[in-house]
Amino acid sequence: MILTPEKNKNLLETLIEFAYAEYGSAIEMLAAAKKTNSAKLKIGYIYHALDEYRHTFLILKVLKNQIENGRGNFKKHYKFNPQSVIKKGYVDKEGFLVEKLSTKKFVEFVYSNEYLAQEAFDGLKKNINDIQSLNIIENITEDEKKHSDDTIETLDDIMKDELRHHGHAKNFYLKTFPESKIEMAFMREKIKNKLRLFYYKNIKFLTKIIDPIIHFIIFCFGKVVVLIDIPTQNRENLLKINEKSVL
Ligand SMILES: [Fe+2]
Ligand SMILES: [Fe+2]
Repeated sequence: MILTPEKNKNLLETLIEFAYAEYGSAIEMLAAAKKTNSAKLKIGYIYHALDEYRHTFLILKVLKNQIENGRGNFKKHYKFNPQSVIKKGYVDKEGFLVEKLSTKKFVEFVYSNEYLAQEAFDGLKKNINDIQSLNIIENITEDEKKHSDDTIETLDDIMKDELRHHGHAKNFYLKTFPESKIEMAFMREKIKNKLRLFYYKNIKFLTKIIDPIIHFIIFCFGKVVVLIDIPTQNRENLLKINEKSVL
């Protein structure tokens, strides 16, 4: 995963966001594979994409397990819709990361965000572990226990992959840009990651306030426009001659 989603207090909502983030990364990796001229890198990116597709599937399985364990009800938007990856901002419709960033910046981004992803999965695992230990007190069934163990095993499996992706990016970076300081790049990307989450969190909040104001201004402007009298030489109002006219 290369774009860590916002943490949500609701476990199921967090899981569906993680699934989209993984799917977005898979697509970004395919775009990177398409762009590079190096056969070795092409194969590396394709394997990375396959891992991210697999992670999407695994996260959706975890989501299903959690619902079956009674951690909440299934909601319509938990049904995975590939197109939502753009709407949710995990893939930018203006272009892929590999097209927008230099190779150096792209590798810095992957290196840093794969590590942050591993940390995010660790947080998710702790969260699920906490819920599970609470439930053990309340007599967990055999099936529920199996689902919970499956979930932890799956998250461990994904975390191993993310660390491996992080390691590959590091090796490539150190070999290609030996002069650059990778830890500085990591700090920079970590801050950017936090700002991005802050932006997405607040933009949702701000649009709730700003959108009605904009609609109100447009509404008022519409009312004023109808009152404007644009006379022709014959003193006719052009707006009234043809209502469909854009003038
Ligand atoms: Fe990854
Ligand atoms: Fe991943």
